[in-house]
Amino acid sequence: MEIFIDSASTTEINKWLEMGVIDGVTTNPSIMFKDCVYDADAGAKEIAALVNPRPLSVEVTTNDLDEMIIQAQTFASWAPNIVIKIPQITQYGVPCYGVIKQLDGEGIKVNATVALSLGQVILAAKAGATYISIFAGRVADEGGNAPEVIRVAVDWLERWKYKSKIIVGSIRGVIDIQQAAIAGAHIITIPPQFLSRMADHKFTRATVEQFITDAKKALEMMEKMRGS
Ligand code: E4P
Repeated sequence: MEIFIDSASTTEINKWLEMGVIDGVTTNPSIMFKDCVYDADAGAKEIAALVNPRPLSVEVTTNDLDEMIIQAQTFASWAPNIVIKIPQITQYGVPCYGVIKQLDGEGIKVNATVALSLGQVILAAKAGATYISIFAGRVADEGGNAPEVIRVAVDWLERWKYKSKIIVGSIRGVIDIQQAAIAGAHIITIPPQFLSRMADHKFTRATVEQFITDAKKALEMMEKMRGS
């Protein structure tokens, strides 16, 4: 299983990259805005260079299908590791699978994003998406069972040998990460604050504190014994 970081902050990306725990990066226009990356073009180029050869997902910002293709071709020309996020449908409900098919045919990798159901996963896989992003938190927001959607999607892709990999995003807590991992997600994209929370545990801190305290006590004892 791979871990991507769901962030546009070069500080966070670099920090987790140096720890050796991330295999790629995902962004979207809201993440770019939250992380104060207002010049999305320059920001994407900087992140792509930082994480190269790992993949960086950059999302198109239009409802127009022809414009999506032009944006995707432009973004993809910036760096070889840029993957284009295309939504399943536009905000008006128009399916975007033709865009995915065309880009795949041109050798441009697509992350078919905002998937909330097995049906969408099936269509995106058939259209040729390299990655399909299931938004676990948003599935759960509507009362859906996100781990079950992930499990059946991964099973279906593997049973029929599609190339698409499931990325689980929209993480709202560490439990979502653990459930996605157990459900068989190929990749989970995690916001930096949850990477920190995954690492942390008050009893791990307490145990490490105990070991350091006892090591100091042993040292003191040794010095005392040497002196006597
Ligand atoms: C994944 O690629 C998305 O960027 C992200 O996880 C969306 O999550 P949200 O529901 O917090 O917007």
